[in-house]
Amino acid sequence: MTDLDVFITGLPKAELHLHIEGSLEPELMFALARRNGVALAYPDVEAVRAAYAFSNLQDFLDIYYAGAAVLLTARDFHDLAMAYFDRAAADGVVHAEIMFDPQTHTARGVPFCAVIEGLVSAMAEAKTRHGMTSALIMCFLRHLSEADAFAVLEEAGPWLPKITAVGLDSSELGHPPQKFARVFAAAREHGLKLVAHAGEEGPPEYVIAALDVLHVDRIDHGNRALEDAGLVARLVASGMTLTVCPLSNLKLCVVGNLIDHPIDAMLREGLKATVNSDDPAYFGGYVADNYRAVAKARSLTRDDLAQLARNSFTGSFLPSAAIAANCARLDAYLGS
Ligand code: HPA
Ligand code: ZN
Repeated sequence: MTDLDVFITGLPKAELHLHIEGSLEPELMFALARRNGVALAYPDVEAVRAAYAFSNLQDFLDIYYAGAAVLLTARDFHDLAMAYFDRAAADGVVHAEIMFDPQTHTARGVPFCAVIEGLVSAMAEAKTRHGMTSALIMCFLRHLSEADAFAVLEEAGPWLPKITAVGLDSSELGHPPQKFARVFAAAREHGLKLVAHAGEEGPPEYVIAALDVLHVDRIDHGNRALEDAGLVARLVASGMTLTVCPLSNLKLCVVGNLIDHPIDAMLREGLKATVNSDDPAYFGGYVADNYRAVAKARSLTRDDLAQLARNSFTGSFLPSAAIAANCARLDAYLGS
C-alpha cells in the first residue's frame, strides 16, 4: 500500500451509486444457491468470475439479472446488504445511498416486502455496527413499461417512508427518460427524490431529458454529457451531481482505457463529479478501488480526491446538518 492508497482508504466518503444486487460476490451467490436450493449455470466461483467479461451494458445486465435469482428471502437481502456495508465501511464509506431493483425480484415471485424488509434491517445494523448512515433508492427497470413502473410505485406505498428516492436503470438505449415522465412526476408528488441513469451509453439528449422531463436531483453516470458544451455549462451552473463509476465504465466499454477516463476533465470543467462503484462484485472493485484506479490512471492530486469526497457529501440526500457534519469530518481528516 502506498501513502496515497492509505490516504484514499481513510478518506471519509459517501457512496451514491451502488446497486445492491451488483454487490453479490460469487462466493455469496453460491452460498445462497445452496441455502435456497437454486441451480446455477456455473460449476464454481471461478467459472462465474470468468464469465464477467462484458462488451457493453446489455452483456452485463443479462448475467447480473441471472445472478440475482439466488435472492429469495428477507434474510438473503439482509445478508447481501450486510456484506456490502461491511466492505464499504472498510473503504471509508460513512454514508451509502443504495439502489435496488424490486422488479428483478417480484417477477420471480419474491414478495416486495421480503426485499425491503431485508434491506431495511441491514441498514439499521450498519448504523449500529459501523455508525454508517444509509438511504434507499428504488429503481424502475427502463426496459419494462410505464405501467409496470407505476405498479412498483403502488406496491411500495406502505414502505415509502423508508425510501428516499426513485431511480431509473437497466438498458438505456431505446428507453429514453420520456417513457417515465409520469411515474417520476407521481414519485415527486410523494416527496421522493429523483435520480436517473443517463449518458452512460445514451446520448447527451437523454441527459437533457432527465433534467427537463424527469426533473432529476442527480444524474447517474452522465459521461456522454461531455459531448455537449452547452449541457456541461448547464450542469455546472446548476451544481448537478454526477455519480461517476470508473471501473464500471472500463468494464462496460464506456471508456476503452482508464487512461482516457474523463474524471479529472469533469472536475476541471467545474462539474460536481463523484466516484462510485456501481456493481462492485461484477466490475472488479469497491469504492476505494475506484478512487485508486482513477488516481493512478489520471494522476489525481490529494486535492482532487478530497474534492470528489466532498462532492459525495454535498451531492447526497442527507439533511443539511448531516452534510455539514460529514464535511467537517472530512476537513478534520485532511488537516490531520
Ligand atoms: N447501468 C444501467 N443499469 C444498471 C447498471 C448500470 O450501470 N448497473 C445495474 N443496473
Ligand atoms: Zn448503475
